[in-house]
Amino acid sequence: MIRLKSVEKTYPARRGTPPHTALKGVSLSVGKGEIFGIIGRSGAGKSTLLRTINLLERPTAGTVEVEGRDVTALPIRDLPLFRRRIGMVFQHFNLLSSRTVYDNVALPLELAGASKAEIAAAVDPLLPLVGLADKRDRYPAELSGGQKQRVGIARALSSSPQVLLCDEVTSALDPETTRQILALLKTINRRLNLTMVVITHEMDVVRLLCDRVAVMDHGEIVETGITADVFANPAHPVTRSMLHELHSLDTLTDADLSAEEVL
Ligand SMILES: Nc1ncnc2c1ncn2[C@@H]1O[C@H](COP(=O)(O)OP(=O)(O)OP(=O)(O)O)[C@@H](O)[C@H]1O
Ligand SMILES: [Mg+2]
Repeated sequence: MIRLKSVEKTYPARRGTPPHTALKGVSLSVGKGEIFGIIGRSGAGKSTLLRTINLLERPTAGTVEVEGRDVTALPIRDLPLFRRRIGMVFQHFNLLSSRTVYDNVALPLELAGASKAEIAAAVDPLLPLVGLADKRDRYPAELSGGQKQRVGIARALSSSPQVLLCDEVTSALDPETTRQILALLKTINRRLNLTMVVITHEMDVVRLLCDRVAVMDHGEIVETGITADVFANPAHPVTRSMLHELHSLDTLTDADLSAEEVL
């Protein structure tokens, strides 16, 4: 479904900062219907990698294939149509505050020139799917963080994409809401047979959601495998240390946290 071959991305020098190579020969493939996780520390290149899949970032070298086509070779005029095949969900939701839930979800279709009837046919079934049937006419300011992210997910699904890209979609949410949103993503994956690429710095997100995972460090994939295998036998020091942090957080008690606050 998605195949990256030797993808490089160098951001050019700007105002005194030297050029920066954020991706150094990244290759990976994601199968139809698979949930593929990418983890790594801040600055590892995760967002850059995700954004090469819908060509928000154009690779400096290498190819990006989606549904068997090299999308780096697409003519500019075909890009809008191509991008509609790929939905994207963001950490900070990116909702328009002056629009209701319905109108936020409808926005990509409006921009694509869909008729009112086409928009209703697409949006009406999405609201119950994401658990927002009763919030249709509410504004973002009237929603919780988890509800806002449900709007972000519905909006990403409105143009019936084949692929959903998720960039730290639970990082602004508390643990219980995170679990609910991960459960929703899993349901959507199963119901729509949607291919998902999920980037996160939270090992828990990978553990609960992803079929396979790639670990990134300094612009390279340093380890990849089935999630359970990587968790059971982490090979790379970055993977080991991220797992170690996960386990040390697990053992933190409420008393530890309040002690930290006192300090
Ligand atoms: N537009 C840009 N111009 C120049 N450098 C950039 C640009 N975007 C990202 N970078 C650099 O590329 C590297 C990778 O950034 P990226 O945003 O992909 O990391 P990340 O793994 O998503 O990090 P985080 O977990 O903090 O979101 C960083 O060193 C960053 O400073
Ligand atoms: Mg990022």
